[in-house]
Amino acid sequence: MRVPLLDLSEQYHSLAEPIRREFDEIIRTQSFILGPKVEEFERALAAFCRAKHAIGVSSGTDALLNILMALRIGPNDAVITTAYTFFATAGCIARVGATPVFVDIDPVTFNISPAAIAAFLARCQRNAEGQWIDAAGHVVSAIVPVHLFGLCCEMDAINEIAAAYSLTVIEDAAQAIGAEYPAKEGRARQAGTMSAAGFFSFYPSKNLGAAGDAGAILTNDEELARGFRIFREHGMEPRYFHHVIGGNFRLDAIQAAILKIKLPHLDDWSAARRKVADIYREEFTARGLTNHLTLPAEPYRERGLTNHHIYHQYVIRTAQRDTLQKHLAGAGIGTAIYYPLGLHEQKCFEPLGYRAGDLPETEKAARETLALPIYPELTREMQGQVVAAIARFFGHD
Ligand SMILES: Cc1ncc(COP(=O)(O)O)c(C=O)c1O
Repeated sequence: MRVPLLDLSEQYHSLAEPIRREFDEIIRTQSFILGPKVEEFERALAAFCRAKHAIGVSSGTDALLNILMALRIGPNDAVITTAYTFFATAGCIARVGATPVFVDIDPVTFNISPAAIAAFLARCQRNAEGQWIDAAGHVVSAIVPVHLFGLCCEMDAINEIAAAYSLTVIEDAAQAIGAEYPAKEGRARQAGTMSAAGFFSFYPSKNLGAAGDAGAILTNDEELARGFRIFREHGMEPRYFHHVIGGNFRLDAIQAAILKIKLPHLDDWSAARRKVADIYREEFTARGLTNHLTLPAEPYRERGLTNHHIYHQYVIRTAQRDTLQKHLAGAGIGTAIYYPLGLHEQKCFEPLGYRAGDLPETEKAARETLALPIYPELTREMQGQVVAAIARFFGHD
């Protein structure tokens, strides 16, 4: 039996009927863009995340672009982020004319290291207006932490640093919808709600996936929410009057309707992914494989949270990553490498002047990590096959 990295078909079949009904209604009403379906989904999403505002947009990439444009981040700004992420995080920063500043990750969680952020800022100088200026002369204006693979960054530490340096924090929660972070005042906090603004991607393979591209912005700030909505439609307010230049970042009604049908199932799906992760841990440990593999860290597991990790990806690390991947492919098991190259080493960012060795933990992770199959419908039998194939590779069968 082949074990794909991801299989979306079963999830669709279980919801096919209500999805078809929504399709029919949208086609009957011919109301395809924004409108009541998008507003209903925005309300449901805001309630789910316990955020004041959710704004549906055309993708996760457009969400970040929309946020950066509305916050007037542009040329002369530097934005601190991680190089160990999907390209869009830094791509959007560069597209608004700002400069991405890559700092290293925490090798245990793969998330941006607060200590690395602090170390970078300690090298900046304060100007007469109280702004922090980096060595290239840019004003350091924001931090974009990425809750990678479904695990929240250390947001308390990041927000503390941001407050000390008057920086805006924007959470890239593209992979982390529903992920929780330990409570501050009695209640667990949700990915995307712990900063000025956060965003999700609903790319089909995400834990909450649309039938195409889609995304959303979250914020608790009324003024920012208003601005994000204006920038979502070419900066238009009122109709055909443009005080600012935005973009077309609108969400389609069909995507919103599908997402609204799926949203009530998301917690169950995340719990099923966690169960798969638990089984991997039990089986890898029982077979003595933890000497060869490092399993995903769960730093918030004993902190009274449900969604302490939502396992968008189950990422192991091993020094023999490439040969293990080939071996698994031979056994019919799908895997993926997220990500094979730190963004600081991407050709398009060469002008930023980073060199190999600048971000050692990022570079090591890029050489050693491998994502294994994880999705709610993955059967015990399929998982057994993955574990057995890995055990065979390390001679533990
Ligand atoms: C960390 C991260 N940021 C941003 C994005 C961009 O989202 P989208 O693909 O919806 O444009 C993704 C999507 O994969 C992502 O994983």
